[in-house]
Amino acid sequence: MSANIGVSLREHLLKHCDRTELRRIIYHIAETCKYISSILGEYNRKVAQTHNSSGEQQLEVDILSNEILMERLRRDTSFGINEFASEELDKLEIFNTNSGRYSVSCDPVDGSSLADVNLSIGTIVGIYDGPILNDRGGRDNMVAALYVLYGPLTTLMYTTKSGVHEFVLDPTGNYVLATENIRLEEKGSIYSPGGLKKDWTREHRDFIKTLEEQGHKLRYSGGLVADVNQILLKGGGIFTYPALVDKPDGKLRVYFELQQMALLVEQAGGLATNGEDHILNLSPTDIDARSPIYLGSKYEVNLAQQYLEHTVAV
Ligand code: F6P
Ligand code: MN
Repeated sequence: MSANIGVSLREHLLKHCDRTELRRIIYHIAETCKYISSILGEYNRKVAQTHNSSGEQQLEVDILSNEILMERLRRDTSFGINEFASEELDKLEIFNTNSGRYSVSCDPVDGSSLADVNLSIGTIVGIYDGPILNDRGGRDNMVAALYVLYGPLTTLMYTTKSGVHEFVLDPTGNYVLATENIRLEEKGSIYSPGGLKKDWTREHRDFIKTLEEQGHKLRYSGGLVADVNQILLKGGGIFTYPALVDKPDGKLRVYFELQQMALLVEQAGGLATNGEDHILNLSPTDIDARSPIYLGSKYEVNLAQQYLEHTVAV
């Protein structure tokens, strides 16, 4: 067990991130998520009269959590945040024209439609050095990714490209280190497949069948954060939301959901692709762009790739 278990998020960040502004942004987001977690109970069943930019019905908790994150980050311009993008907004917000170095892209409460049945949901955040939309791709452009998972425990998983680390919010309201330097096995034993089976492509169907024949266990909650979290903490496996027959780009969004998860998983020694390219190489010009995703242990992701490329060895 690491000697650091139990250290605070603040202390840990000091060791793993030498950029002062970035540390402050991460810490402030983590603090803000404590507040989001405290309002989930009250607002989880209230449907709003609005839809997000993708046309999905919003809940009050989506709108409120977006406001909370956005306004708390905007308020203190010394954080050096220039752009703020969110799944719940129609367009990018500019906080700090020209003077800010960093950009934040987030899904304030992912999986919010699961809140009314008390399943786990989460906040997903990516931090970029410079504008979010540029041609460098997330691997160069992103400097940190994190999520906060609201389950039986509230936990925070973060990377500043120096490993992946899990913190638990303790009863006194402090994030304390629970698992340091998470590593995925080369091959895992769970699979987490999104999308309706009837809409899967033949290649994807064949891939999933092979995983089942190999003894992989089905573990899908329908909440991206919980599903990726179990891949990270159970030592591997695969999460996929594939291209569907009538939706070739799948469902999940590159800048609000996928690049954050890809950075975390790559930092844990895994892979994340859309079947053609690494998720972190993508740089779509549309902030709402979607992509299929295969993310997790190297063995499963490479196998998916082979099925999609029709190069699978039989
Ligand atoms: O962001 C959307 C989301 O709720 C993710 O959390 C999850 O991975 C996905 O949708 C589940 O979609 P489906 O209900 O189609 O399996
Ligand atoms: Mn989402």
